This record gives sequence, C-alpha cells and structure tokens, in this order.
Amino acid sequence: MCGIFAYCSYLCERDRAYVCSVLTQGLSRLEYRGYDSAGIGIDGDTPDSPPILFKEVGKVIKLRELIQEHSASSAEEAAANARHVQPSEGANVGLLDMSKKFITQTSMAHTRWATHGQPAVLNCHPHVSDPSNEFILVHNGIITNYKEIKFVLEKRGYVFKTDTDTEAVAMLCKYVYDSQPNKRLNFTDLIKAVIKELEGSFAFVFKSRHFPDEIVAARRGSPLLIGVKTDRKLKVDFVDVELPTVETDKILSHDAESGGLLTVPGNSTEGPKLRRSQSRAFLSEDGMPQPIEFFVASDASAVIEQTKRVLYLEDDDIAHISEGELHIHRLRKDDGLSSVRAIETLEIELAAIMKGQFDHFMQKEIYEQPESVVNTMRGRVNFDTRSVTLGGLKAYLPVIRRCRRLLFVACGTSYHSCIAVRPVFEELTEIPVAVELASDFLDRRTPVFRDDVAIFVSQSGETADTILAMRYCLERGALCVGVVNTVGSTLSRETHSGVHINAGPEIGVASTKAYTSQYIALVMIALQLSDDSISKEVRRQEIIDGLHDIPAMIKSVLMMDKALQQLAKETLAKEKSLLIMGRGYQYATCLEGALKIKEVSYMHSEGILAGELKHGPLALIDEHLPVIFIMTKDSLYPKVQSALAQVTARKGQPIVICNEDDKTIDPAVRTIRVPSTVDCLQGLINVIPLQLLSYHLAIMNGVDVDFPRNLAKAVTVE
Ligand code: F6R
Repeated sequence: MCGIFAYCSYLCERDRAYVCSVLTQGLSRLEYRGYDSAGIGIDGDTPDSPPILFKEVGKVIKLRELIQEHSASSAEEAAANARHVQPSEGANVGLLDMSKKFITQTSMAHTRWATHGQPAVLNCHPHVSDPSNEFILVHNGIITNYKEIKFVLEKRGYVFKTDTDTEAVAMLCKYVYDSQPNKRLNFTDLIKAVIKELEGSFAFVFKSRHFPDEIVAARRGSPLLIGVKTDRKLKVDFVDVELPTVETDKILSHDAESGGLLTVPGNSTEGPKLRRSQSRAFLSEDGMPQPIEFFVASDASAVIEQTKRVLYLEDDDIAHISEGELHIHRLRKDDGLSSVRAIETLEIELAAIMKGQFDHFMQKEIYEQPESVVNTMRGRVNFDTRSVTLGGLKAYLPVIRRCRRLLFVACGTSYHSCIAVRPVFEELTEIPVAVELASDFLDRRTPVFRDDVAIFVSQSGETADTILAMRYCLERGALCVGVVNTVGSTLSRETHSGVHINAGPEIGVASTKAYTSQYIALVMIALQLSDDSISKEVRRQEIIDGLHDIPAMIKSVLMMDKALQQLAKETLAKEKSLLIMGRGYQYATCLEGALKIKEVSYMHSEGILAGELKHGPLALIDEHLPVIFIMTKDSLYPKVQSALAQVTARKGQPIVICNEDDKTIDPAVRTIRVPSTVDCLQGLINVIPLQLLSYHLAIMNGVDVDFPRNLAKAVTVE
C-alpha cells in the first residue's frame, strides 16, 4: 500500500517552507493508504548538494512536527543554531533555512504501510542509494525479486541498512550509474534499465543529485497519476508516448550462486524514438517557457487542492519531468496500449474529501449514504417508467445474457456486496452465479472460459488481488465487467465495460458507503439484465419501487444513532467477542457487520450463517457471549426464529435486528427496529445499525477510527 506524492515546480519562486507544506498536505490526503510512518525528500541549498530527508514514525502530523523542530526562519538562524541541533535518526538535517527560495525544485514524499520491515525511521521512505543520497526514491508496492538484487549487489560491496525491498532499487540505481563512468545514461534511460530488472508491483518516484531539477516516475501494478498546474491554457490536452524501436535485454544476470553481474549498457538502451512527446504543450503560445507545476500522486485526492488536470499513467509508463516538460516513455512498444495519454479534468470537489462537521471520515461516510445511494441510481433508474439503464453495459447485454456463468470476484467488503446480491441475481437472470474471493480464485487457478462473464467489484479499483484476477480472466477470453468507485482506476480502465458506483471518494479505511452503493449497482445490473423477461416483470417493478424508498429508510435508521451508541456502551463495549447471525439475504449483512466491528473496534466478531448454528457455533453459546440476530421478515424468518430459540434456550443474550412492526419478539429481548423493504434490499437497511455500532465501539475502545492498526485503504499488494 503506501501513498506517494511528488512536487516539481519550474520558474515559480517557492520557498522551502512552502514546498514542505505542499508535500505534507498532499501526504495527509494519502494517509488512508498507510500511516505507520512518513517521510519527505527536498532539495539541498545548491543544485549539487544532496537532497535533504525528513522521516518520522507515525502519521503525517508527526512528520510536520519534526520539520517544524528543524526549521529556521533565515539562513543566519540556521547557521547559528545548526551545531546545537541533533538530527533525528534517519534525517540528515540540522536546522534548515525554510526561507530559502527556489526558482525550480523537485521534491517527493511518502506515507508508509509496512510490508517489509517494521515501522521504524530506518525503514521510512525516501530510501537512498548511499550515505550522500545520490539517488533517492519513494515506492508503493512490493519488489518480489529484491533478495536476488540485494544478494548480487552485496557481492559487489554494497551495504544495505534497512529491512525493505525498496532499498535494493535505490542501490541498483547507483550500481547502474557507477557502472558507466565514461558514458553516462540520461536519467530516463537509467531508470528504464533499473525497472527492467524488477519483478513485482510498484509505483516509484526517483530523484538524483546527478540530475538536479529532474524527476522520473514509473508504475507497474500500483496506481500513479500526474497533476499539471499552470496559469495558461495548455495548447493540447494530451502527451504522446515515446515508444522504443529496439527492445533491450536486462542488464543484470542474477546468478544467485555466483552473485554474477554481467553487463551494463554501454549507452542508451534504445534506438531512435518512434514519436516525440508533446512537451511543447507546456510552452506558451509564443514558445516561451512558462511557470508550471507538476504533482505526482498515488491518487487524485492528493492533487485536487492544487489542480484538477491530471494524466493517469499506465503500467510500464515511465514519466520524465524536467525543465517544465513532461515526457512519457514506454518500456516496450508492442503491448497494444495507446500511445497517447490524455490530460483529464477531475470532477471531484475538495469538499467531497474533507471531513466537514464530522469527527471522522468513517462517520461522515456512514451519514452520506442517503445521498450516495441516490448518486448511484441517478440517471440510471427511472422510477416513473420503472426501468434501469446502465450506459456502460448496454452494448454488452446480449453477451452477458447468453453467458454460461457469472463470476463475481472481489475482496473484503466488496466481496460481501457480491454475496448480498447473489440470490437476486440468480432469481432475476437465471444464470448460475459463483462468488469468489480474488485471492482464493487465483490460488485455485479456477477454470475460466470464453463464455464466462466475470464481474470485478472494488471500491478503489486498485486492489492487487482483484486486478490480478481480472487479468487472469482477460487472458482466458472472458468478458470482464468492473463495478468500481474510483474513476480512472486500473480496474475501471482495464475491464471491457462496467458501472461506476458514484459513491464519491471514500477515505475512511473501513468501507461503508461503498458497500451500499456496490449493492445497489449490482442490483441495477440484475434488473437491467432481466428486463427482457416478462415473467420477471412484477418482481422487477417491486424491486425498483423498493429502491425508490431506500434513501429515506437509511436516513431514518441513522436517526437511531444515539440509541445505538447507548446500546454499544451498555451491552457490547466491554465484551471480547461477538457473533452476528442470519441467513439468506442477510448472510452478507452478518459477514459485513462482523468485518466492520473487528476492523475498527478490534473486538473479535464473526458472521455466522444461522443454518450452520447446529453444526458447530452453538457450542460457543452461553450467558456471556453476545449474539446479534438479523431477523427481518422474509421467507426465512421462521428458520431464524428457531435459531434464536436455540440460543435463548442456552441462556444466550441476543440482540435482535427486526422490523419496526414485529410483535412476535419477546419484549425482554433487546431489539434494533428498522423499516421494512423488499426482501432482497433489506440488507441495505440492516447494515446501517451495524456500521454505527462498529463506529461507536471503536471510539469507546480508543481506536483511531479512520486509521485502524495494520490496515490500509487500498491493498495494492498481493
Ligand atoms: C473493509 C474494507 C476492505 C476492502 C477490501 C477491498 O472495510 O474496506 O475489506 O473492502 O480491501 O477493497 P476494494 O473494494 O478497494 O477492492
């Protein structure tokens, strides 16, 4: 996971304090991607002085404090005090002149979610190639062959200091650079040579004291985009890609036995370029260079405060920013990708990514649901004609209707939304549906055929397991459909067609509004697929009418917030464990409720199919273990009633989520009463009290709700 941010300004006078504030502000927007440590790399005082690093364990606020501690307001103050200040471990600064001005500068930042090496200053990014910071870089992803690279470089005398995979890449940069003292590669070709050695997933930003005022960014498997900010209109809104005409081999031979390094390129690894990039796009009409700023980021929320004009990089794109120009290069030429990258205008607003009146993003996002579900349906569900039109799917409807199987593939909460809609999908489409956890689907190398349709559900659109599963299905010729929240994400770009759920940015690590919007988007797909079936017409109309009332019903459940807070305090806050039981449509609600509770409150919680109660879980029941029953009215109600009786017979103390008008429940039993809707939509209502309970339990347990330990928002590693 991790978040990457870089800032390059040309012909704009920016002082160091401003640069640091842009970096830390960008980082704070990416904190949901990882927050166990953070760091920045900025320019030294002169073009040939080494980049300066600040690194700190914890959230971005701690990094800000560290920078503050090392800040002097003038060069004189810095000089006078420098000798009294102990640089913190890992940072190479004493007191720094924050008023120092730069006409052109390049800088980078990183917020980390540890994969290799514990959260410690030592393992913070930017990582460096050597003590004088010749090459520095930030990385999101995992380099799977880092041990081989490390082995080979250690044999050559390189000394590794950290536990990370990233450090091997920094050292490799230096190795490639030093291997050619007489005929240096330019920065882009050097990074291309490095990238060719790497296996795994990555998004990188590189900076080097050998190439002052230049930045190289590259991605494979992890997201990366470039924001462009300039006062003048760009002449064109695209950048042509430079394609290599000559494919070159790897430069290192990783013979692990001998530690053998074979050759390094004698000169540029490629022949003449097929196309020139449209760097002139960044010049003014009269051809004069103009002030311009570039922001490289893992996602759009980090750049939106600066600019709405962004260009999404594709896998194996290498972007070079230098002298106010942006050039994009490809590693290979015959990969069928377009050789033009468009500069797009983002449509999200800053307000959409701010907390507003709420204490936490999770709370804000729970409360946004009456509105976010409307946005999911807007322009797609016509409540007058009782019809559904999903533009992104229209052309593919005949193929989907004829498929022999629908495969739903997702992880975590997104997987639960697939479980939630499977019954109604099977009922309306009469197509067999398999729901798969992406990781397990890949582990099993599940057979996939050309006449399968695979639907990939993901809030971020960047979950590594889901993306790999999608590519696996693409290779086997299945039609791939994305159901994604993040516009421009890898999943939304690489699937054949799809539906954006339009829930708006979800920042809280625990997914809430994305779940209800995914659920509705999937129901809409089922409705559209079945609109050629007369026998399903009555049921379809019942569901569409039900969708109409969902926003108001969610709103009414949100009004129970105070009572739920009280319930959490009185009955659950001190418990160690909790079961959530239901069946049929509500099985997904049990799984999702339990996931929410465990991930944000750290209380052990399990979602249990009530039909399985007698096959094991009943052994857990006693007078101490709390059990939430989801017992809203549908065809399985009597069966859940009987499960409840089995629990109370064993002195269990249930809390029952039931419909407002349910008179059958013993008044001594605690209830959470919710409005009643169509059976297949009831899960949209029932999940809300569980989201609120998990939020309050987290607060009561002192958890930093938006940043639960060990988790990150977008899981971009396998
Ligand atoms: C739980 C949660 C995760 C995600 C999962 C998939 O609250 O957020 O379980 O649902 O990591 O993420 P996406 O939907 O981005 O593919």
